[in-house]
Amino acid sequence: MAETRKILILAGDGIGPEVMREARRLLDWLDRKRGIRFELEEDLVGGASIDARGTPLSESTLELARAADAILFGAVGGPAWEKLGFDKRPEIAILGLRRELGLFANLRPAVVYDPLVAASTLKPDIVRGLDLMIVRESTGGIYFGEPRGITTLPDGQRRGVNTEIYTTSEIERVGRVAFGLAQARNKRVASVEKSNVMESGLLWRETITALARAEFPDVELTHVLADNCAMQLVRTPKQFDVIVTTNLFGDLLSDLAGQLTGSLGMLPSATLGEVQADGRRHALYEPIHGSAPDIAGRGVANPLAQILSLAMLLRHSFGLTAEAGLIETAVVRVLSNGLRTADIMAPGAARVGTGVMGEAVLRELDKVPQ
Ligand code: IPM
Ligand code: MG
Repeated sequence: MAETRKILILAGDGIGPEVMREARRLLDWLDRKRGIRFELEEDLVGGASIDARGTPLSESTLELARAADAILFGAVGGPAWEKLGFDKRPEIAILGLRRELGLFANLRPAVVYDPLVAASTLKPDIVRGLDLMIVRESTGGIYFGEPRGITTLPDGQRRGVNTEIYTTSEIERVGRVAFGLAQARNKRVASVEKSNVMESGLLWRETITALARAEFPDVELTHVLADNCAMQLVRTPKQFDVIVTTNLFGDLLSDLAGQLTGSLGMLPSATLGEVQADGRRHALYEPIHGSAPDIAGRGVANPLAQILSLAMLLRHSFGLTAEAGLIETAVVRVLSNGLRTADIMAPGAARVGTGVMGEAVLRELDKVPQ
């Protein structure tokens, strides 16, 4: 493990900077109270970068990203940049970082915290205790496949094309991440595709099956068609533990799974690259929620997804498992104490803003004997 821990902070747009401020206070706390030092760099991304540099992801930002051990990302986008061309919008920064750093495994947990069980739109019994991990392939499939584009046909019609492509090595490497996670959890993986109508889906199923047999015989593997998976997730979500799926299906199913919890403002994510020869691995951590321009700058946003993204960063990039656990426990305690930001407000709870919520997490951490 590297001696220095280099983190690139890309707060982005909208509520990004204000929720990031609370995550940074935790980094200071780790330094002061537990002697864990980080080397922090900060840069612009998304709309903020468009305004300053004319591009959502500049070459200099990419350089910093390549040099970092981990990236803590906020959120990008907003109405100011909505009219820009398809390839110039703030969201392109996320796709660019995934592609340029080879961040192929997107980990999207959907966890229902006990104090928030009523926040779900589903009945409490269906979601209580839900702890699901979606592993979404994130550098391949229809998001990046060629040919792609919009052309005009001889008869004057226009035609839009995107291509779903997967190779065995792309499927295997994301499969290994999912099976590895499952081994540390409940040893169950559901692999999701549409092998009934898509050749790429059939290859996915065959490759995952062979991988499980060869390398992870201790993990129970099931195959679920993507449409059925959507239905099952709403019907009995707790039947799933780890789900591994393609880029597009993972995009859809992770939004669905996030909403099962009723509190998107609580959900972190990690996107990991390949382990390199020197043991380093590019990784980006970001909340699932967007930049929420409608509430930006008002100090009411929920900082917990950003804070939990930092916990994932500590665990996956630096092996700081104990510290990650401390932060996660502190978050649950704050919720149990009845503190809520507007997005997860419940009758009888105390409504607080971004700063007070961040502060409350720090106070819980202070109670842990150092
Ligand atoms: C996500 C988002 C992105 C995606 C967009 C913003 C490019 O929806 O991270 O799920 O589709 O991957
Ligand atoms: Mg999405």
